[in-house]
Amino acid sequence: MTALNVGLLPGSIRSASVSRQLAAALVPLLADHGLDSELIDLDEYPMSLYHGDDEVEQGQPAQAIALCARLVELDGLILVTPEYNGGPSALLKNAIDWVTRVDRSVFKRLLIGLAAASPGQRGAKNGLSVMRSICDHMRLDIVPDDLSIAESGAAFETVAGVPVFARSGDLDAAELFVASYACRLLERSRVESA
Ligand SMILES: Cc1cc2nc3c(=O)[nH]c(=O)nc-3n(C[C@H](O)[C@H](O)[C@H](O)COP(=O)(O)O)c2cc1C
Repeated sequence: MTALNVGLLPGSIRSASVSRQLAAALVPLLADHGLDSELIDLDEYPMSLYHGDDEVEQGQPAQAIALCARLVELDGLILVTPEYNGGPSALLKNAIDWVTRVDRSVFKRLLIGLAAASPGQRGAKNGLSVMRSICDHMRLDIVPDDLSIAESGAAFETVAGVPVFARSGDLDAAELFVASYACRLLERSRVESA
């Protein structure tokens, strides 16, 4: 049986992005549960801001169609959103909006996990809460607990070129988050194949 595959989608394309570091640090934890994973870089899918007139005149951007096709191949998706003024990044929300114009149900097939890191002490909890509310509105299947990493400036270190958690408390929280996500994903897969 092939391993289930989870996409990790950071909502930032900044080279030093903590969201990207967080996504990368989750890869080995998912592997510990027998799950494959892949980082999805929104820099590879540049899209204009959604504009209804553009859509009528030109259709959906090829990048939105390509991103949607990639999501179709996944079993699960972990959204890693930066917090901007108490909400998720416009980059991530715009990508979600365009993809739903290509296929409004593509996210519904996926088990969704929510994770975030921010420099403040609240660990982007507002952004996570707004993201959850968006996912609830879309009637997505979301694991109940989010992963929130506070004071992100000291949260990651690089080992052999790969970001890893620098603090044991964050690693423990990430392991719990991934264990709960993996358990739910494997259970879903068992039910679907029964
Ligand atoms: C426009 C803007 C708004 C921000 N608003 C918040 C905020 O509401 N709460 C917070 O914790 N951090 C906020 N930040 C700081 C970001 O969380 C921080 O820059 C973070 O590193 C961005 O994610 P990234 O590193 O993945 O790009 C904001 C940053 C920007 C540029």
